[in-house]
Amino acid sequence: MSEINITVTVNGTKINAAVKPEMSLLRFLRAQLFWDVKCGCEEGDCGTCTVIFNGQSVKSCLVLAAQADGGTVWTNKGLGVVDELTGELQKAFVERGAIQCGFCTPGMIMAGKHYIDQGGKADREEIKKAISGNLCRCTGYKKIVDAIYDVSEKINGSK
Ligand code: FES
Ligand code: FES
Repeated sequence: MSEINITVTVNGTKINAAVKPEMSLLRFLRAQLFWDVKCGCEEGDCGTCTVIFNGQSVKSCLVLAAQADGGTVWTNKGLGVVDELTGELQKAFVERGAIQCGFCTPGMIMAGKHYIDQGGKADREEIKKAISGNLCRCTGYKKIVDAIYDVSEKINGSK
């Protein structure tokens, strides 16, 4: 099938590319060298590919690149430069030792950011729900929850 021309603004930079209709946004981002978007299951199960697309936290393997035409995407790395909250989360993950192999980390930070952006308070049960679509094979989740807890407490307070 013929390719489609799309324009997507990723981390503030407009990218024009021709893509196959079946190409996922995840594959598109990695083809454009946004390696901080990790590729895991490609079936919507692990959450490691999570990005902010048009203001929403989405699993980029479940979105077609063609659907992103005209849209805006932020990855963990890009947001870490321009968005104070993302920078704080990145710091908290390091301070809390919430990173082991790092495979889940960009997706976890994006999920945490979305939670706090929505007004999420420091509440461990709510934070667990917010990251329930993201799998971590290393940390046992506690340190990840602690890191998001610290930042949500600072920004939105406790429950
Ligand atoms: S790679 Fe997208 S959810 Fe696993
Ligand atoms: S730190 Fe390894 S998968 Fe989460």
